[in-house]
Amino acid sequence: MRILVSGGAGYIGSHTTLQLIASGHDAVIVDDFSRSKRSVVPRLEALAGRSIEVREVDLTHVPATEALVADGGFEAVIHFAGLKAVGESVEKPIEYYSNNLGSTLSLLAAMRRHGVPKFVFSSSATVYGENASVPMKEEFPTSATNPYGWTKVMQEQILRDAAVADPSLRVALLRYFNPVGAHASGTIGEDPSGIPNNLMPLIAQVAVGRRQKLLIYGDDYPTPDGTGRRDYLHVEDLAAGHVAALDRLGTAPGVSTWNLGTGTPTSVKEMVDAFARACGHELPVEIAPRRPGDVAESYADPSRAEAELGWRAGRTIDQMCVDTWRWQSNNPDGYPA
Ligand code: UD1
Repeated sequence: MRILVSGGAGYIGSHTTLQLIASGHDAVIVDDFSRSKRSVVPRLEALAGRSIEVREVDLTHVPATEALVADGGFEAVIHFAGLKAVGESVEKPIEYYSNNLGSTLSLLAAMRRHGVPKFVFSSSATVYGENASVPMKEEFPTSATNPYGWTKVMQEQILRDAAVADPSLRVALLRYFNPVGAHASGTIGEDPSGIPNNLMPLIAQVAVGRRQKLLIYGDDYPTPDGTGRRDYLHVEDLAAGHVAALDRLGTAPGVSTWNLGTGTPTSVKEMVDAFARACGHELPVEIAPRRPGDVAESYADPSRAEAELGWRAGRTIDQMCVDTWRWQSNNPDGYPA
């Protein structure tokens, strides 16, 4: 299949692009490089052992997206591109709604016009909102607590409505839990722009000496050690989930929703301990107040993806930390400009 990978230079997109190529697909990256670096591309090409077509397009630009899809010959779009910082989305809601919704809408319009039948969407466990019980199941109601989360809820709804109106459209809504880790080569990994928001890049930057200490947001949650528990999955398992979902769309009509997680929660303290084992030294931490909007626990019921995709996130927390550390210690400042 010839596949358009939006945000293919980003963290999850780059790992997925490699696995698509390894599975025999032809992946074309489209990225505006607003939150990713061009230097990821030669590294991907070295790992893939071939050149990779890259198009620099702002997908909110309707005519540019139309031109990209018109002469692309694509059978599927995997749509990773989007803004994803919760705090920033509260400061800049209009930017978040127009970017995240706009890119999905212009892709869908171009796909309909040119008969591209498959759409794989990067959704998030954030769509379960703050009052969901655990483990989280796909049939739970969706809601959000911030503009970023609402863009995911709204994009899911747009895709469901588009699939009702166009029975030839096949959609996978992939609800990611907490992706971490890096490619085993240590040459590609997560390189957030600015100050990271998520736990793993913060731990990795403390470990490599870029930050002084990790703040643990709350140790008084109703969890075994008092710190928040999440469902961390290795980005390579997550990438494999995309390849499996794409294959499954060959036979699954309409919209399919799959949780991608391990089903097993890990606490902040457990993650810090695992990372200390991986990097070989203790990490300075300080207990801080809870972060507003955080829930005590979030983890998947991944049984639907296991049954329908034959997919499981099998890599361990220790592997996630070892691979993150290889990437971070080889690239302390992330990708070159
Ligand atoms: C966060 C977002 C979520 C988004 C997801 C992916 C919030 C409230 N939620 O989820 O909407 O979909 O990222 O980008 O921002 N922690 C610390 N210290 C830190 C950072 C995090 O203790 O410096 C803790 C958190 O309290 C949490 C865990 O680490 O218990 C994981 O945090 P994070 O990586 O930000 O992921 P989520 O909170 O699951």
